[in-house]
Amino acid sequence: MVATLGFGVDVGGSGIKGCTVDLEAGKLHGERIRIPTPDPSKPDAVADVVKDIVDQFGWRGPVGVTLPAVIKRGVAYTAANIDKSWLGTNASELFGERLGLAPADVVVINDADAAGIAEISYGWPDDREGVVVLLTFGTGIGSAVFVDGKLVPNTEFGHLEVDGHDAETRAAASVKDDKGLSWSDWAQRVSRYIRGLEDLIWPDLIIAGGGVSRKADKWLPLLEVRTRVVPAELRNDAGIVGAAVAVRENMHG
Ligand code: BGC
Repeated sequence: MVATLGFGVDVGGSGIKGCTVDLEAGKLHGERIRIPTPDPSKPDAVADVVKDIVDQFGWRGPVGVTLPAVIKRGVAYTAANIDKSWLGTNASELFGERLGLAPADVVVINDADAAGIAEISYGWPDDREGVVVLLTFGTGIGSAVFVDGKLVPNTEFGHLEVDGHDAETRAAASVKDDKGLSWSDWAQRVSRYIRGLEDLIWPDLIIAGGGVSRKADKWLPLLEVRTRVVPAELRNDAGIVGAAVAVRENMHG
């Protein structure tokens, strides 16, 4: 059987990763390419890397791209862990021009939203009803909220204020590494954060994503929260897969 293919690129603070995606299976199709994020990570430099990755695959079709930013109709309104010159940049136009693609063939979305789209499309098939929240624990905390499977885009729940602090500065996975916290100390911080979140939106399910979801057995059982929390199924590839789904579904925001 010939797979239905798409293409996704996940732009992060340290690496830019892209691959063809098997849209039937919700999996990477082939080996992904990762190129370190240019420093400074200005729009033009990032666009060059995105083009390089797409060209290395010889891909000519539609492309979905994630950014660690609030994106509305292709324009970046925040810039977390990427150069501040992204603010106000029309990222869809930029990537479209660089890749030689029509506007409809490029979709740019928030990285956590993309990861959530992948999880909700291919993981946890019996749990899509109600309010499902994906949280990505990495350098920061990203969030994606779904109501009966439909994305509410650009939620920024990583920035909830918890005990007077921006939550991601207390409970991101990077904080565990930087401060050398034990799993149980970090899990306490994550619990505190999730309790704040669940008091505000009462999710039915929370999916824990980001690189640290690979070690879910070390910290999910330590959480003291009301909501069922499950590990992400697609893990680190979720951003790439979700970006490819977003362009197929025409999620232009
Ligand atoms: C940003 C979000 C992003 C998340 C994960 C947060 O700091 O505000 O837009 O999704 O980091 O990269």
